[in-house]
Amino acid sequence: MKLTIIGGGGRVGAGAAFALQCGGVVSELQLLDANPAAAEGEALDLLHGTALTADQRIYAGDYARAANSDVFLITAGLRRKPDESRLDLINRNVTLFVQILDSLKDAGLRQDALVLVVSNPVDILTQLACQRLGLPWQQVIGLGTMLDTSRFCSLIADEFKLAPTQVKALILGEHGDSMVPIWSSAAVNGLPLAGLPQFNPGFQTKLFERTKGSGAEVIAKKGGAGWAVALSIRDVIHAIALNQNRLLPVSSMQQGAYGLRQICLSVPTVVGRKGVVEQVEIDLWPKEKLALQNSAKSLADTLAKVKI
Ligand code: LAC
Repeated sequence: MKLTIIGGGGRVGAGAAFALQCGGVVSELQLLDANPAAAEGEALDLLHGTALTADQRIYAGDYARAANSDVFLITAGLRRKPDESRLDLINRNVTLFVQILDSLKDAGLRQDALVLVVSNPVDILTQLACQRLGLPWQQVIGLGTMLDTSRFCSLIADEFKLAPTQVKALILGEHGDSMVPIWSSAAVNGLPLAGLPQFNPGFQTKLFERTKGSGAEVIAKKGGAGWAVALSIRDVIHAIALNQNRLLPVSSMQQGAYGLRQICLSVPTVVGRKGVVEQVEIDLWPKEKLALQNSAKSLADTLAKVKI
């Protein structure tokens, strides 16, 4: 599979490239960046390690060479300031994003290409990509709450001294202030987290607030997320490349699950080689479903204010 990373010279794009290099599944990785020297530097550094990883081609390219990619990963964007909400980034990032989409169209992307949007505000930009690229909606996916979900599980495991990969607790909705923690199905190795002796409402609030504030916390401490977001991206790309049909909290254009339509946000979504296979409405607590609907409303309000 040939993957092009737009923003490959940046922290998130280069981090994703490294995670995918270590993953060894993608055969060709092309890095593009508005700063060509940054893409060349990252590609060269990654190339130097190919003898120790997998038989992949890794190089810095351009839109013309990118046109026949199977998947485009878009990480390019301006970074959120510590006190800025993801949605405040919107008008700063939309113009840049539209230019990228138009360059992709001009280069002649394939009609069966998939696009994974990571740049923020991710749900809004995923929606723009759906509207502007002319691809079937199933082929445009946003990273959505993948990173929030990983943070949530990892922080719960850390707090309770559990094995991180055995903790399963979803975050759905907007990748932003209205994200929704799904406690109804939170589990460790299949058993309800609520059954743990230490589990109580104070703990729930603390863990969720820490998760929601994680993006800002990382920006304040090191300038922006890098490693965990890279691994979250790898999870989605591997689900695509290996046609895994994994149920993931990614963002896509809603088609009716939980009463949501024509808005991009994260619900449980089956992902395979052709992109979204299905958006699955699995029973949630009524208050979780309501919070998900409110998250969609909040995104729709923002979308109405976007100037394209
Ligand atoms: C974060 C950015 C990547 O949550 O949205 O850290």
